[in-house]
Amino acid sequence: MTALLTHSKQFNDNLFLCHNFDNLPLDSLLSSLSSSKFVCIRGLLEPTKVKQSKLALSQKFSRAKDHPTVGESPQDVQTNFQKLAVGCARGKHHLGSYGRLLRVFFNPLWQEDIYEMHDVFRALVIVRNKLIGKPINFASDTIEDGLWTAARIHQYPVGGGFIQTHRDRTQSTVSESANLNYYQVFAILSQKGEDFEQGGGFIEEQGKRIILDDYISPGDIVIYDGSTLHGVEDIDPHKVLDLETVSGRLSAFVSLYKDLSS
Ligand SMILES: [Fe+2]
Repeated sequence: MTALLTHSKQFNDNLFLCHNFDNLPLDSLLSSLSSSKFVCIRGLLEPTKVKQSKLALSQKFSRAKDHPTVGESPQDVQTNFQKLAVGCARGKHHLGSYGRLLRVFFNPLWQEDIYEMHDVFRALVIVRNKLIGKPINFASDTIEDGLWTAARIHQYPVGGGFIQTHRDRTQSTVSESANLNYYQVFAILSQKGEDFEQGGGFIEEQGKRIILDDYISPGDIVIYDGSTLHGVEDIDPHKVLDLETVSGRLSAFVSLYKDLSS
C-alpha cells in the first residue's frame, strides 16, 4: 500500500460522523485519540456557516491592526486583538520555543462577534467541555476557576505560513494545574486545494507525518491531546508571502488559557 493510501485509511479510522452534541461518542473519541494521537468529528458544524464566517473575516480584515509578535498585555488578548506571530520569540509565560509564522485573531466570546464566529466557537467549547467533564458552558463567556476561553483564529498565510513540530506544553500545563485533562479542539475553516496548494496541518506518529489538511474540509473538528506531535507544514512556499489578505490556512481554537489579567 502506498503511504497516501495508508494515511487515508488512518484518517478514516479516526473520523467520526456526528450531527448532534448529545450523541458525541466520548468513549470512542478518547480511545481513538489515545491510540492515534488525533480524531476528527464531521457533521457538527455546517460547512456553509463556516464559509460565511471566513467571508466576514476577509471583509473585516485590516492589515493596519496587526500587532507585533511580543509586547501585548494579558488584557489585550481578552479583547478583539490581532497579531502576527513570527520567529521563536514568545511571552514569558510560554513553555518551549519553536519557529512559526502566522496571524492570530483573538475574538473572546464576551467581545463583539465581528467575524460571525461565535456560534462556531461555542460549538467547539461544548465539545471541549464534554471531553473534560465540565458543564457545557464552562469558562465560555466568563473567567471561571482562573481560566478563560481564548477563542481565536489562526491564519497561516500563503507564501510560507508554518509552525514547527511541537507538543502543546504551555496549554497542557495550564489544564494540568487546574486538574483537567488537556484537549486541543479546533475547527478547520479553509480547504486545501482552494485556499492553498501545498503544506498544511500535520501530526507525526512513529516518525511518520500525516498531513491532515489532505483529508479535512471546512467545518471538520480535529482534536489533539498534550502528547500529540503536530505542526503546520509551510503553506505554499513557492509563492511570495501574502500578509495583505486573509490568505492560506485558517483554523479556529478555544483553548483554556490561564487568566493573567488581574
Ligand atoms: Fe499546537
